[in-house]
Amino acid sequence: MSRQARLAALLVFSFGLSAVYYVSGRAEPDGTTTRTGADWPEHGQSGGELHYSPLAQISTENVGRLGLAWALDLNGEHSLEGIPVAVDGTLFFSGQSSKVYAVAAASGKLLWSYDPETWRYRPQAMKYMYRVNRGVAYANGRVFVATLDGRLIALDARTGKAAWSVMTVAENSLMNITGAPRVFKGKVVIGQSGGDYGERGYLTAYDQASGKQVWRFYTAPGAPGTDEGVNKDAMAMAAATWKGEYWKTGTGGTVWNAVTFDEELDRVYIGTGNSGPYNPDLRSPGDGDNLFLASIVAVEADTGKYIWSYQVNPREAWDYKATTNMIPATLEIDGKPRKVLMQAPTNGFFYVLDRETGKLISAEKYGKVNWAERIDVATGRPVEMPGIRYKQGPVTMYPGPLGAHNWQPMSYNPKTGLVYIPYMQLPGRFEASDHPAFGIGTSFEFVKEGPDDATGALVAWDPVMQKQAWRVPYADMWNGGTMTTAGGLVFQGDQNGIFHAYDARSGKELWKFDTKLGIIAAPMTYQAGGRQYISLLVGFGGATILQTKYLKSGWKYNAQPRRLFTFALDANQKLPDTPPRNFQVRPVYDATATIDEALAARGARLYNQNSCLLCHGLEARGSGVPGPDLRESAIAANRAAFDRVLKQGIAELGMPEFSQLPDADIAALYMYVRTTAREAAGGASAPRAEGAPARN
Ligand code: HEC
Repeated sequence: MSRQARLAALLVFSFGLSAVYYVSGRAEPDGTTTRTGADWPEHGQSGGELHYSPLAQISTENVGRLGLAWALDLNGEHSLEGIPVAVDGTLFFSGQSSKVYAVAAASGKLLWSYDPETWRYRPQAMKYMYRVNRGVAYANGRVFVATLDGRLIALDARTGKAAWSVMTVAENSLMNITGAPRVFKGKVVIGQSGGDYGERGYLTAYDQASGKQVWRFYTAPGAPGTDEGVNKDAMAMAAATWKGEYWKTGTGGTVWNAVTFDEELDRVYIGTGNSGPYNPDLRSPGDGDNLFLASIVAVEADTGKYIWSYQVNPREAWDYKATTNMIPATLEIDGKPRKVLMQAPTNGFFYVLDRETGKLISAEKYGKVNWAERIDVATGRPVEMPGIRYKQGPVTMYPGPLGAHNWQPMSYNPKTGLVYIPYMQLPGRFEASDHPAFGIGTSFEFVKEGPDDATGALVAWDPVMQKQAWRVPYADMWNGGTMTTAGGLVFQGDQNGIFHAYDARSGKELWKFDTKLGIIAAPMTYQAGGRQYISLLVGFGGATILQTKYLKSGWKYNAQPRRLFTFALDANQKLPDTPPRNFQVRPVYDATATIDEALAARGARLYNQNSCLLCHGLEARGSGVPGPDLRESAIAANRAAFDRVLKQGIAELGMPEFSQLPDADIAALYMYVRTTAREAAGGASAPRAEGAPARN
């Protein structure tokens, strides 16, 4: 659709809906949730995204009796980041390739599955991102899923049959979708990824019933004179913060994860990402804050009209983003109830905003932060430390680009008043550079400087006092999101596969279970047949490039089954046999082969430039990454087979085709992979190329 056509659609379909919806006979005042507390009807339980359940059957008193009710094997799945939704006794969730499953919530019986066959649509989208999907939305008898290739699809919740499908990104864009749609007031909204490539981000609302576009909010200005409609003034305000030909060099600000509906104030909060080029001097020469990058933007729920915005990193330069989940609450601050919005973005500060006005109330560091001294409450702007903009030379930044917190949701328990943050620590070293890989103008790599780097923690944060209440350390950093309940509990899974229950007030561990595979998703809870259950998707993977350098996860490609785990009190099912972790690399390497070192060195650069590292790991170290370990691959060791895989791809299993690569490049890639196998076999080191950024 052209921009003009999009605008026409926006004008035609900008209408308010006030219909009454029914879900299994229950009247839904806003078509959003079932609100009985028995269900987990939305991504974060409610539109407010608290990741909190009012269920209390499982409590601090009895959680020790929690056991496995059932585990469903999900063949063909890999990185599982999603959170199921539970509606009237059925669980709906998505797998890595946007495949949707419906499962009977009490028994674990598969009712239907739907495969959107993402590889058949815009197959080039596979090259920008390994396959992950953070979940589905449910409303009014329909399940909504967004696909890696950019479609938003509505399914009949009883049958799994598609009711409608719309393409939400331009065919020739560098965008894709990994996030979960959100629903409110007869609408379903979805954003996208691609900000790292400079794509101009937006959030689009579609009519739940028809799939027609209702509104679209762009998170960055377009070319001069092109922005019309209800947000014309907001876009003009944003454009004044950009210099140069930004619409050509790239804007970014994509909405790839967090969207929160605030029912009380009838508005939607949009969390925006970073930009490409990372170096702001290239995308906005001289100065300019570059709105709305790394910002929280509030818009009207019915029209998408701009209300306010708050930018966590003006003139963002380090891949920091405000794409982590945002939680509305009413907190008593200085003796007065304040309607606030809480976020712990990747930059390491915990922000409490006034959600009526967008004004900053307070911000404090919830982890190790060296890029800013503090956030000035009067201006709302950070007081940056000298040198952090890497103009005078390289700088090591805490947090690094993966953030002190990322898409793994934090949760808020109104009973304890605490927020539970999945914290991680790993700095990044930044340097201005003309490195041709994406992230032009900047090069960075993850570095480990101190003993706590590459570790994680569960941080319980008091948002009123703006200080830590308690903390549980984890040996590794890539852990799951959190969930908290009225039973006084916090649940979180960790990278080593242990699912923990803690006392929400003290952080004391009360229960744990070994799922035998690393956990990155967040749990959820619901009631079915009068019994409370806790469910969790287990499938290690995602943005694990760094793991391959600093951590040996031992989770090999396709070795451990991916599963949906469900727990209940006094349940005692035995977990089916699971292959143990394996830290050994068994390289396939012929020591008599001839190695061309210069060719291999070129291959090392091509390996990073062509995103091989995204799925096969930095330096081809493949433990826990979304693709197989190429050092152990017989296919990678065979020149003809290697050639075939690259030219044809294995699309339905997640390996894109690289048919555009010249034979000479494929030869160089092959030679590089040979040297990584040689190194693993105890031979000479493989050539090293510059590192590359992480994507989510
Ligand atoms: C978006 C993710 C992704 C990217 C990018 C990617 N791969 Fe793959 N690749 C995979 C997956 C997943 C498989 C395994 C498919 C399967 O299960 O058979 C695979 C398989 C392979 C294999 C066969 C290995 C085997 O034993 O099955 C080779 C060789 C390979 N990739 C090389 C490359 C190279 C070289 C690049 C960069 C030019 C690259 N891949 C980029 C995901 C990716």
